[in-house]
Amino acid sequence: MAFPPSFLDELVARNPIEEVVGQYVNLKRSGSNLFGLCPFHGEKTASFSVSPDKGIYYCFGCHKGGGVINFEMEIEGLSYPDAVRALAKRAGMEVPEDEQYQSRYRQQERLWALSREAARFFVSQLYAPAGAEGLTYARKRGMTKSTLTKFGIGFAPNTWTALTDAMKAKGYTDEELKESGLVSVSSKNGRIYDRFRNRLMFPIIDVRGNVIGFGGRVMDDSTPKYLNSPETIIFNKRKNLFALNLAKKSKLGYLILVEGYMDAVALHQYGFDCAVASLGTSLTEEHAVLLSRYTQQVVLIYDGDEAGQNATRRAIPMLEKAGLQVKVLKMRDAKDPDEFLKKYGADRFKLLLEESSNRVEYQLGAIRGKYDLREDEQKVRFLSEAAELIAGLPNAVQREVYGQRVAETAKVSMEAVRMEVERSRKRILTREKRKQEQIDLAPASMLQRRGSTKVTYDNVKSGKAEEYLIAALLTEPALLGQCGTLKAEDFSVPLYEKVYRQITARDHAGYTASIDTLADLTPDETSHLTGIYRSFGTVNEQAFLDCIQTIQSEHRTSSVQTADDLMAVREQLKQRKGMKS
Ligand code: UTP
Ligand code: MN
Repeated sequence: MAFPPSFLDELVARNPIEEVVGQYVNLKRSGSNLFGLCPFHGEKTASFSVSPDKGIYYCFGCHKGGGVINFEMEIEGLSYPDAVRALAKRAGMEVPEDEQYQSRYRQQERLWALSREAARFFVSQLYAPAGAEGLTYARKRGMTKSTLTKFGIGFAPNTWTALTDAMKAKGYTDEELKESGLVSVSSKNGRIYDRFRNRLMFPIIDVRGNVIGFGGRVMDDSTPKYLNSPETIIFNKRKNLFALNLAKKSKLGYLILVEGYMDAVALHQYGFDCAVASLGTSLTEEHAVLLSRYTQQVVLIYDGDEAGQNATRRAIPMLEKAGLQVKVLKMRDAKDPDEFLKKYGADRFKLLLEESSNRVEYQLGAIRGKYDLREDEQKVRFLSEAAELIAGLPNAVQREVYGQRVAETAKVSMEAVRMEVERSRKRILTREKRKQEQIDLAPASMLQRRGSTKVTYDNVKSGKAEEYLIAALLTEPALLGQCGTLKAEDFSVPLYEKVYRQITARDHAGYTASIDTLADLTPDETSHLTGIYRSFGTVNEQAFLDCIQTIQSEHRTSSVQTADDLMAVREQLKQRKGMKS
């Protein structure tokens, strides 16, 4: 759908890019620009820039860039219209709705509202007679009144249609209830009934404060212990974490990642208000990137059992790839943090946190635990596995320090460990070199397909001129008046042709163009354009006019060439025909 240009201009004006980006990225001013850690790729040095004057962001590391609407699209994974709606909501603006456009966003908004109503209903039930058992259970689990309120914990009564009836009374349809995952459909008569019954209810709230799903716990030993909302158009388990809406405000400077709802709740209650939990699924890369938007350090707490150790092993590289510093806390003396806190209190938990080791120490410990070092053969295997781990460390000091530790543990000389590590390093380097060679040797076409639609210039001379011209027009829209006879067809680069067409169309309608209001561009095209626009200084009028000349004359020669080519082909065909006959 096309939004009216005046609306889009106001939307962009009322959502200053530095404010919108500032909600996700910690920005520091440097001259007329702001810099921070890129939210789109893991990094430790700030190569992500925001230019308030131009209304754009650009990352020198991953080369993503665009305007404020593009940013909203990228960071929240939204379509263009949905990003526009989200920004309109942020600025308190009414969106001019196109009747024909059936927006997924509208549907989402209905489900957010429905889920919030459902959460309210569950809370009211917890304090109603029907919820007496639930409240007793919550107390038994040690949850205080203020914890229950803070997390919005409620109760689903032990009936088949209490929620369904309450939501229908509020005007929600069967269809909407089904889409929300709050009801199930009877296979006998096709009627809907409450999915959650007789359970303590934990609402799952996203970072923007929307209720997107629920986890419900039984109060006895029946199964499943926790019933979760299914995936819906508003609930994606791979992209959300329980309690991040609260933890993102923590002042502790790190985030704690645990496995259970109850663990996160207990940690908050005991003052560790930086705890989040994954939603009954294993950690994903999306989770890691999400976490990296709010912190640089994560403490992983997984159960000491084998499943927990496997989960930890999988999680570490994902978190590190997102640029996070990882520490691992191995639970002991209790099954999980919730149990630990109740048994020993916050102070002892703090000790555990302080002792929590960085991931290398943790992994060395895990390897150590697998072998009996009194046996020579096992000692050798321990050394080779430990050396493999150490060889993968990026810095020499780390390799030295941990190498030393391994030597002491195994009671062998440091020299022996060093040699073993060197051997592993060579293996790793060879492996990487081979991988790189495969990439280098791959035909360009394959890389093109795998990679993205990078912008290329067939006619470099014209391409460069078009590049200058477009950047100049974005910088000083009034220059369009000087373009005279320049037509979109004169351009040789499809991207610039498309952009020029839109700039002129918008001008006819009485508006100027901006990165934000250009339509039909791929993310790569937007990034490419933003990169050029960002590095563009002030317009040199003579250069501008020269560019127009170049574009037009290059176009003329290429058309002549094409015409010549055509003649040649025709000539050839004629000759061939002549040969046949
Ligand atoms: P746990 O069984 O360790 O639960 O599952 P817990 O958090 O310690 O729960 P309490 O203390 O007995 O109440 C860890 C997490 O795995 C998911 C939930 O997210 C849970 O918090 N899970 C577990 C489910 O989704 N369904 C289940 O049936 C069990
Ligand atoms: Mn537990």
